[in-house]
Amino acid sequence: MSALHDETPIIVGCGFLGKHLAKQLQEHQQSPLCIVRSDQSRAALNTCGYDVYMFDLDDVNAAIKLELKQHQIYYLAPPSNIDKCDHRLDYFLSLCEKNPPSKIVYISTSGVYGDCAGAWVDENQPLAPISDRATRRVYAEKALINYCQRYDTDYVILRVGGIYGPGRLPIQRLSSLTVVCPQDAPYSNRIHVVDLANICYLTMVNDISNEIFNVADGNATTMTDYYYKIADFAGLPRPPCVPMSEAHTKLSASMLSFVQESRRLSTKKLHARLNINIQFPTLESGLEDCFSKQI
Ligand SMILES: NC(=O)c1ccc[n+]([C@@H]2O[C@H](COP(=O)([O-])OP(=O)(O)OC[C@H]3O[C@@H](n4cnc5c(N)ncnc54)[C@H](OP(=O)(O)O)[C@@H]3O)[C@@H](O)[C@H]2O)c1
Repeated sequence: MSALHDETPIIVGCGFLGKHLAKQLQEHQQSPLCIVRSDQSRAALNTCGYDVYMFDLDDVNAAIKLELKQHQIYYLAPPSNIDKCDHRLDYFLSLCEKNPPSKIVYISTSGVYGDCAGAWVDENQPLAPISDRATRRVYAEKALINYCQRYDTDYVILRVGGIYGPGRLPIQRLSSLTVVCPQDAPYSNRIHVVDLANICYLTMVNDISNEIFNVADGNATTMTDYYYKIADFAGLPRPPCVPMSEAHTKLSASMLSFVQESRRLSTKKLHARLNINIQFPTLESGLEDCFSKQI
């Protein structure tokens, strides 16, 4: 068994967000353990000086050689595409039954609210997932809450809008995209990865437990605005647009699934409970940061 200090924070699913979070934890003098499944991710994280443990949550026969106890867990791994539940989270929680973590910060998605016809939604909005992706998140949230109630573990669930940041912009895809024209475009929400990593850290270390928060920059725009702004920043042509009435035949399946939902995330609760300063409150400020780092 690998020996970890009880206070070692563990990042389960240390990908794009996880890397930014690991950096922030180091800046706060914490040394996280990063869990990933691929050798490639392990090597990349090792190069940055992080401790990494390779473990595939899809492989229920793999024995975990970590003693998981009383740790702070940031759970960032997405559900697999199988079924309408989250087998990975179920498996991970089963591994933590002997020594429950002290607290789990779980990244969910605002997709759990489904289509809200452009309304502002707070955390009391009824859950009405449309896509299988969002249905799995509703399952995962419930599974997490059940586990935490049973094992006396604190939890924070973050319902996050679209994550963007340096190195995570759809620039290559711009030339093959069709979007909904601005006047018809549904609302969508975003958060810069640096702000999200900071919110993950703050919800973990502050005295907040068993709470759910919407997370976005507070300035909802539209998917069309997002792609147009990226094109403008990159000096590339804006993608062509079609009216909503033609979306079913002209948009890709993934784009269609996004434009069938419209909502604006209220982040009042987040600001009321946490003393946060959103560094990139608008797409313009966030994209300026991304492009100054040459993406
Ligand atoms: N992108 C968005 O706009 C958005 C919006 C809301 C919420 N989210 C959610 O936010 C979370 C973090 O997003 P992200 O962009 O950082 O994701 P990401 O870059 O895709 O990273 C996911 C991480 O999970 C690990 N992982 C995946 N399957 C695993 C398995 N079977 N066993 C162990 N580890 C596994 C991956 O390891 P490997 O690298 O080794 O494969 C990777 O480190 C995800 O849950 C995502 O679904 C995303």
